[in-house]
Amino acid sequence: MKYIIANFKMNQTPQETKEYLIRLLPKVEEGKHKLVLCLPATSMGVASFMLNGGEVSIGGQNLCDEEEGKCTGEISGKMLKNAGCEFVIVGHSERRVKFKETARSINKKIKIALKNRLKVILCVGENLAERNTLKMLETLKVQIEEALKGLYENELENIIIAYEPVWAIGSGKVPTNKEIETSVKAIRKVITDDFSAKAGEAITVVYGGSIDAKNAPTINRAKGLNGMLIGGSCLDAGTFATILREV
Ligand code: PGA
Repeated sequence: MKYIIANFKMNQTPQETKEYLIRLLPKVEEGKHKLVLCLPATSMGVASFMLNGGEVSIGGQNLCDEEEGKCTGEISGKMLKNAGCEFVIVGHSERRVKFKETARSINKKIKIALKNRLKVILCVGENLAERNTLKMLETLKVQIEEALKGLYENELENIIIAYEPVWAIGSGKVPTNKEIETSVKAIRKVITDDFSAKAGEAITVVYGGSIDAKNAPTINRAKGLNGMLIGGSCLDAGTFATILREV
């Protein structure tokens, strides 16, 4: 079963999430996808109530790199778990760039998430300059190795790696399936080299960046891919339901 992960970013009030779920849920086919909705923190209460521990999972979009205490405005792993989250996105490029999230902080966040029994959706991807200077695969390797530093192989079953080229996010540009496959292969090789061949094969890898109802079926056929991470196109329940139907 493939993952379809929706990243709502800073969109939707709790009321809007409620209305969205009323539209979306009747269109979700049971047992077809592993569907994860990464919601704004303020929408988690209503979503958790409406989803009621069913097939559709909730995820956070970020967590604090400290466990609790003097971090005004932050959300802890423990809070996300208690709010009904099963997943959390870590290291999204918007956080790396806009909020200056460092590799060390990303590594700490992953460890805290795992400690709180949250599955991690780790975002990695090259920017345009790195792509143009052919440093793309090196970038992926560094980002993955820094993020997973100190983890044990058995913890990888709770890690999803989302390949999200920065230049593809929200741009309407998508790599070809061949390009996606090259990156997915490179990601699996990093895991193979650092952990084991079994781990490299087993790690869950999804693609994200400008997926829409039109290109989703094609991207879904990329070899070695275990699913997708969708931003802009998840915001309208009708469009998102179309994607779910078509893949
Ligand atoms: P996009 O966003 O689908 O709007 O490109 C994906 C993401 O940022 O996770």
